[in-house]
Amino acid sequence: MRYLVFSLSFIISFNLFAQQTDVNYDENEIPDYKLPKLLITESGRKVKNVKRWEKKRRPELLEIFKHEIYGNIPEEIDISDVIVHEENGVFFDGLAKRKQVEIIFKKDDRELSADILIYTPKDSVKAPVFVGYNFSGNHTISYDPNIRLTESWVPDNPSWGIVHNQVTEQSRGVATDKWPVKKMIEAGYGVATVYCGDIDPDRDNFQDGIHPFSYQLGQFRPGYDEWGSISAWAWGLSKVMDYFTTDQDIDSTKVMVFGFSRMGKAAVWAAALDQRFAMCISNNSGCMGAALSRRRIGETIGIITYHFPHWFCENLNKYSGHEDKLPIDQHMLLGMIAPRPLYVTSATADLWSDPKGEFLSTLEAGKVYELYGKKGLPVTEMPAPNTPVSETVGYHIRTGKHDITPYDWEQFINFANKQFYSQPEE
Ligand code: GCU
Repeated sequence: MRYLVFSLSFIISFNLFAQQTDVNYDENEIPDYKLPKLLITESGRKVKNVKRWEKKRRPELLEIFKHEIYGNIPEEIDISDVIVHEENGVFFDGLAKRKQVEIIFKKDDRELSADILIYTPKDSVKAPVFVGYNFSGNHTISYDPNIRLTESWVPDNPSWGIVHNQVTEQSRGVATDKWPVKKMIEAGYGVATVYCGDIDPDRDNFQDGIHPFSYQLGQFRPGYDEWGSISAWAWGLSKVMDYFTTDQDIDSTKVMVFGFSRMGKAAVWAAALDQRFAMCISNNSGCMGAALSRRRIGETIGIITYHFPHWFCENLNKYSGHEDKLPIDQHMLLGMIAPRPLYVTSATADLWSDPKGEFLSTLEAGKVYELYGKKGLPVTEMPAPNTPVSETVGYHIRTGKHDITPYDWEQFINFANKQFYSQPEE
């Protein structure tokens, strides 16, 4: 029966997709919508204080996001072994210390390992750290010749020498412009990264990565409310956090989870799930990241579930073309990051990610921060391009395309400085 219902909902969503191939970019074409109320419980009670938020509303919302959007994450998978491949590597003429650690997961005859690459300022005792995934291997973020090459499946990119889904020396440093490591080190921050495909290769194939670790006998893909790739990536970030709590070079109370685009979606979900992350940065995360789904502008649920069905649980298909039926919207996801600092970015030419929808949900999320006596965004209208605004919640829209640039990083560093080092005494 359950299968029948879902087969039907699949057919319906494919039909709806056919009606949605014309992407709307016109604000005037946005259907009337009403956001579900962040601070009213499912039983209709107002949430007026932190206690009710934390005991009632937040858990309620978390359950809905797990069940309807990203999929439930099994609890029982843990790190089995840790191998420190390198403890005291030197980089940037001695400015930074490089560490490379492999975390290994084992179940029956299965084994999965993920490499964490960590740079910290050479002289820092316990460094605050930015942590986020890269898209094509740790070795792509820097020309540092000592970074270990991943053996996981990587999307082909012949111009980078990535063929037959395996990286080669040729792809070293190809993403350097997106990872201004030196800048972070000079500002006193560490940076850690993992290749997303070490945890779950980004393809519609639930036979590799971490998913099979949770299968029952005879199961070949996650069930309708079980984890898609975004949940798997968020889970992976929590496992990295588990490791951080054991690493003396890292201040695990100051770990800032960040992500660009699909990894931005994973970062906000990780921060909502795991409150050990002290700060969250969403860079151009768009549909099913920071942007409101009900606006149906740029990428919609119908489009994203058609092209990237493996990112979500199957339940999300029900809302393709039925965004108004969603019991939640993305401002609630951001609200669950409160009271921890949150920074969201958009880009003027990234209409696919719906900059205005990203701004509006960030603004709305501020209501939860207020419960904690913190301030959300200090503005109510979208700021001009390249004009960052922040209190405990920050936002900017940069001129240019869908990207993560040195300008964005400059703002993240400024925001981190403000949150960690210039808060008035409470
Ligand atoms: C596609 C997808 C977006 C995603 C982006 C990315 O454009 O539609 O949802 O954010 O890829 O990850 O680069």
